[in-house]
Amino acid sequence: MKKFYITTPLYYVNSVPHIGHSYTNIACDTLARYKRLMGDEVLFVTGTDEHGQKIKDAAQAKGLEPKEFVDTIVPIFLGLWKKLEIDYTDFIRTTEPRHEKVVKEILEMFHEKGDLYEGEYSGWYCTPCESFWIETQLIDGNCPDCQRKVEHIKERNFFFKLSKYQDWLIDYIKSHDDFILPAMRRNEMLGFLKNPLSDLCVSRPKSRLSWGIEIPFSKDHVTYVWFDALINYISVCGYGSDTEKFNKFWPADVHMIGKDILRMHAVNWPIMLHTAGLELPKTIFAHGWWKIGGDKMSKSKGNVVNPIEMVDKYGVDAYRFFLLKEVQFGADGSFSEEALISRINSDLANDLGNLLHRTLAMVEKYFSGVVPERRDLKHSDEVTKALIDKAGTLGPEIIKGMDNMDFSYSLNGIWGLISTANKFIEQKAPWKLSKENKQDELKDMMYDLCGVLSMVAVALAPFMPDTSVKIAGQLGLKGIEKMNFNDLKWGVLKSGTKINKAAPLFPRIETT
Ligand code: ME8
Ligand code: MG
Repeated sequence: MKKFYITTPLYYVNSVPHIGHSYTNIACDTLARYKRLMGDEVLFVTGTDEHGQKIKDAAQAKGLEPKEFVDTIVPIFLGLWKKLEIDYTDFIRTTEPRHEKVVKEILEMFHEKGDLYEGEYSGWYCTPCESFWIETQLIDGNCPDCQRKVEHIKERNFFFKLSKYQDWLIDYIKSHDDFILPAMRRNEMLGFLKNPLSDLCVSRPKSRLSWGIEIPFSKDHVTYVWFDALINYISVCGYGSDTEKFNKFWPADVHMIGKDILRMHAVNWPIMLHTAGLELPKTIFAHGWWKIGGDKMSKSKGNVVNPIEMVDKYGVDAYRFFLLKEVQFGADGSFSEEALISRINSDLANDLGNLLHRTLAMVEKYFSGVVPERRDLKHSDEVTKALIDKAGTLGPEIIKGMDNMDFSYSLNGIWGLISTANKFIEQKAPWKLSKENKQDELKDMMYDLCGVLSMVAVALAPFMPDTSVKIAGQLGLKGIEKMNFNDLKWGVLKSGTKINKAAPLFPRIETT
């Protein structure tokens, strides 16, 4: 059995989740479901990043202790993942003892190796990004990442020797094509690494920030939130506690992140791992941003859309579908409710919904709700052959898309078949076949349409799990939970099956 270990970022719990967070988790969930269906043993981890200045400030604003405060936010994340059917294996909070223990061990190890040293820090700090900057990195005196105000800091701190392995990292990136994806992000990192790296300040004095993991060899300091959080990827899979589990799952297959946190993952984290003598993750995939009118959707900018509201209004599968289909994974997208509604009406209500509904209505009308027997495939005209050929490409097309983490490619493959099937109905005009009493041809046709819909049901499983089960239920298709993309073959649905036509899956949304 192959293993597949996929991670999401650990989200800051300074505020409630928005569409951006749901996007990463939906993408990971889709991949995880796909890999499970293909027979892999999957470890899929998400969680929360709970230390640092930003969280402390948010707690203070509510008049709560940091831990009290984060305990009110974490259930909101958990509730959202449940609502979105995010089927993760483990959820890790950076305030858990299993995590804190590993962070301390790594700090000790780096300190003993001499890769963590004490020095004077003088520079600038951006709280929204939880990032240190030196004077020359600032743009117009502001944070180069988010253009917001930075504060000046001068204090004794611990530094991690990031610079030591810069050349090694460049070689590694150059010799591992799949390490940073998409390729444009890889080039971006190679560009960034052309300038010398400065060592990373990895502590904060307790006098200024007490909310963090205490540095074992300096009671006056806590760890920098990023140093802490990245380590979750190994603490959650058994580093230092469950060697068998760790050896099985590490290195991670995919660290899925947004492009905002690429440098932390593609520069800092690999150097931390290398210092610890550990292998690097196989792939770091940085996807694009959902924007609102050209601006990145972000908690600290306050222009966020609440995913819970969208799901309550439009349903979980329509929401998952929209995010995965609307933009090619890796690129930025522009979110609007109008765009969501238009996708629902065209792709879901019109294309998929209609195909299912009218096929089942015809099976009911012409064959009393039982999938008829088909003659040998040699009794197929050109239009029918074209449909069957198209169906034959579905499995390979989906696999190709998923292996490249190109969800919209896979979905376009499914919708290509749906649209061929809708055209097939128009071209063959079954109502005429019925009138002319061409029973054999009509039977073949209904069998073929039900066959296509069965394949669509199987194919949709990782993307829209509920819809997949519902379509299978209406078709009377049994055992769908065990079917995967290698089973996308003609004849999945047996003739003689009793269908269960129900209300349309995706009613049109009327806008005024
Ligand atoms: O950065 N579009 O947490 P965070 C798409 N705690 N994805 C978005 C997005 C948007 N507009 N906004 C956020 C942190 N995301 C750290 C991570 S990991 C060890 C520590 C998603 O709450 C995307 O995955 O700011 C992005 O990378 C992540 O949320 C940032 O979440
Ligand atoms: Mg952020």
